[in-house]
Amino acid sequence: MRTRLSLFLLLSLLLFLSSCAVVLSWKKEEFRNCNQTPFCKRARSRKPGSSPFLAADVSISDGDLVAKLVPREPDPDQEDQEPPARPLALTLSAYRDGVMRVKIDEDYPPQESPHKRRFQVPDVIVSEFESKKLWLQRVSTERVGGDEGVSSIVYLSDEYEGVVRHDPFEVYVRERSSGDRVLSMNSHGLFDFEQLREKKEGEDWEERFRSHTDTRPYGPQSISFDVSFYGADFVYGIPERAASLALKPTRGPGIDHSEPYRLFNLDVFEYLHDSPFGLYGAIPFMISHGKARGTSGFFWLNAAEMQIDVLGEGWDADSGISLPSSQKRVDTFWMSEAGIVDAFFFIGPGPKDVVKQYVGVTGNPAMPQLFATAYHQCRWNYRDEEDVENVDAKFDEHDIPYDVLWLDIEHTDGKRYFTWDKVLFPHPEEMQRKLAAKGRHMVTIVDPHIKRDESYHIHKEASKNGYYVKDASGNDFEGWCWPGSSSYIDMLSPEIRSWWADKFSFENYVGSTPSLYIWNDMNEPSVFNGPELTMPRDALHYGGVEHRELHNANGYYFHMATSDGLLKRGNGNDRPFVLSRAFFPGSQRYGAVWTGDNTAEWDQLRVSVPMILTLGLTGLSFSGADVGGFFGNPEPELLVRWYQLGAYYPFFRAHAHQDTKRREPWLFGERNTELMRDAIRTRYMLLPFFYTLFREANVTGVPVVRPLWMEFPFDEATFDKDEAFMVGNSLLVQGIFTERAKHVSVYLPGKESWYDLRTGTAYLGSKTHKLEAPEDHVPAFQRAGTIIPRRDRFRRSTTQTVNDPYTLVIALNSSQTAEGELYIDDGKSFEFKHGAYIHRRFVFKGGKLTSLNMAPATSGNLPFKSECIIERIIILGHAGGPKNALIEPGNLKAQVEFGPLLLQGRSSSGVLTIRKPGIRIADDWTIKVL
Ligand code: NOJ
Repeated sequence: MRTRLSLFLLLSLLLFLSSCAVVLSWKKEEFRNCNQTPFCKRARSRKPGSSPFLAADVSISDGDLVAKLVPREPDPDQEDQEPPARPLALTLSAYRDGVMRVKIDEDYPPQESPHKRRFQVPDVIVSEFESKKLWLQRVSTERVGGDEGVSSIVYLSDEYEGVVRHDPFEVYVRERSSGDRVLSMNSHGLFDFEQLREKKEGEDWEERFRSHTDTRPYGPQSISFDVSFYGADFVYGIPERAASLALKPTRGPGIDHSEPYRLFNLDVFEYLHDSPFGLYGAIPFMISHGKARGTSGFFWLNAAEMQIDVLGEGWDADSGISLPSSQKRVDTFWMSEAGIVDAFFFIGPGPKDVVKQYVGVTGNPAMPQLFATAYHQCRWNYRDEEDVENVDAKFDEHDIPYDVLWLDIEHTDGKRYFTWDKVLFPHPEEMQRKLAAKGRHMVTIVDPHIKRDESYHIHKEASKNGYYVKDASGNDFEGWCWPGSSSYIDMLSPEIRSWWADKFSFENYVGSTPSLYIWNDMNEPSVFNGPELTMPRDALHYGGVEHRELHNANGYYFHMATSDGLLKRGNGNDRPFVLSRAFFPGSQRYGAVWTGDNTAEWDQLRVSVPMILTLGLTGLSFSGADVGGFFGNPEPELLVRWYQLGAYYPFFRAHAHQDTKRREPWLFGERNTELMRDAIRTRYMLLPFFYTLFREANVTGVPVVRPLWMEFPFDEATFDKDEAFMVGNSLLVQGIFTERAKHVSVYLPGKESWYDLRTGTAYLGSKTHKLEAPEDHVPAFQRAGTIIPRRDRFRRSTTQTVNDPYTLVIALNSSQTAEGELYIDDGKSFEFKHGAYIHRRFVFKGGKLTSLNMAPATSGNLPFKSECIIERIIILGHAGGPKNALIEPGNLKAQVEFGPLLLQGRSSSGVLTIRKPGIRIADDWTIKVL
């Protein structure tokens, strides 16, 4: 009775706290800082040059360079440092396309089977990567000065080589011709590796934070080292946090009390808009860029808590360590609580090369279905079936297109996922069918916490089969989340993932239909009564893996299993759509992510841009922020500006907390409805362009939205810009982030001009323009030299657009040329993988537009047919005044007109338009303007 009462009180308190979250802001004290995190504190206190290791026994084995890292005698001045007990094993491997990999682990003697091996994250590196391995044949030696100057060198490519300096131990990549360095590890001698060992008598390994105790049965096992990026002006990457795109230094002269960048997946209520604090996902991949050399990248595959310092210039002034000084450099310091070193050096040299190298290891982003690239309408919660029907009808009434309606946790029977509230949603199939009849889809939420209720089939099976994560004493781990007492499925096990995936079959997920897709939330995992609102680090997963070793990959496995479930459900021929809050390297293979619980504030609108750009740089091309802001009630102006910007996010979804006022686009007066409709329609109009970019991301990893420097890598003015971004290589979008803005400054990079997307007005490049801030859109410009495909007819949803004609917008550069692409497939299945797609390249040159086939003409490919035609070609910046257009084949004429450029009712003059050329998108043709 007493336990029941206290449980009740605890639950009430938790419910109270969670409902308070709306009015409270970020609670700093709930989360650990570096000083409260012993491994971080220990690592940060070490001095450059203190690394105890030197490399020995270097040789080639199985096509790799192998070596031992042998500990030096311990430094008697460093009191609390444990002497490393054994040598470590280092393996250096080279891969095609500019990748070097360095693994460092304990050197387990073959005869001994230690009771615990350190965790190496499985299931992230794609199998194709291994096939790129270069079998190293020989290692050469270089000696600079005496014995201490010995280095072992291996071939990476005709331009680069990998170097292991023996004493002190250091690894780096350098250019063969110049000897210039690209990337290095342990140049500052900060490498440290706490090895697993027996506990000594009287030693206390436990760690306490607030009311929680971490038993730490294996003791200290952290790893840390420094990494330097040469020829770099800035570093970027390592999501997720709400901070600037270019990472600011966290340590060094003049920087007081800054926290390192933290990578530890957490459910953070009301996060701040400018903070190094880690949010829901973690990608330990950093990219450097600079004028001197270009781009390089460093990726550490490790799923334990990580902390990373960016070291400000002069941080090592007193260290006595001197690195080649002619090269500008950014130094960084990486610390992780557990795991091994599995580090990838990406040589670049261009920004797109580095991203390609990274996805070469972790996998290419999935190709989404067309509907998923359109507009999504969500809120916590659409109350019942009637509410769903009304919202759906209102979109039509107000002529606003949308593709997906979302249901949050309240649609379930008491937060038992895969069920429906019988009173509120008695006819889920019919509800979905009604939406599907209009070509629309539904998404429901499925979270990873399972209600501990014997009558709930998922819980019954999971507990019977032993599928839950265990606590430190081996019982099913129990924590509190939305349903109350919950346990958490252990997705590290392939068997359990397969069981979970089966739950998405139409028979098992009763009430689901083929137009239903999934949202995975709270998968950090969020545990309301856990340390830092997550799972205790000493909880145990499949194979005896401690949660601390796996934590950052927890959500990744959940996302993977859910996505596999949708694949299985569709017999492998329906592209899954799963949105996940937590993520890890490789998540791009399983679906989209969003930036979690932001707030309806202007600064949060602003920070959404660097957040999304950072995700794109680190492989997660399909991402967005809650349009309107999750917490709070946006003023209509902020909401409208958010729609105007959000229309260019790769993932475009409006969402709101349950305590906020309703904010569907028609609730703020006619003018605001019109403005939001315009923004959404802009997205629909540009969908052929977006879809083509999603395909580019799918093939190359190059993200849909990009920092300016990715397209203009030599323009220094772009390196720290993060209020504007590129959509593909053709559009520059500038957000408006202040209330009642009268003016907006836009920097347009490059030598060529830019054309205002609305009016066709040309602006010079390499210049900052102060423009009037328009009420009805955020500034967007098409880059001269590009061609953008559009669909200008407005429909209810993407399903109705499949037979619609296209418009091509050609923005000519100073040589009167332009190029662009269009990719089309069935928008749904995997047949594109067997060649069932159309991929055209359009080239305008010498007054002639040519459509070229880019799809490989391999026999046996499935055909994809489209009868769609081009209804209009708009040419911006044409020097002459031609009257006619001649189309080949057929020797046909089409009419040419000057202006107006029609975009949603606005017009401008001086634009050349070819009307009704009557050509099919699928064919080869040319049009000459005469
Ligand atoms: C937290 C998510 O971030 C939010 O988007 C969602 O609405 C709530 N959980 C309720 O499911």
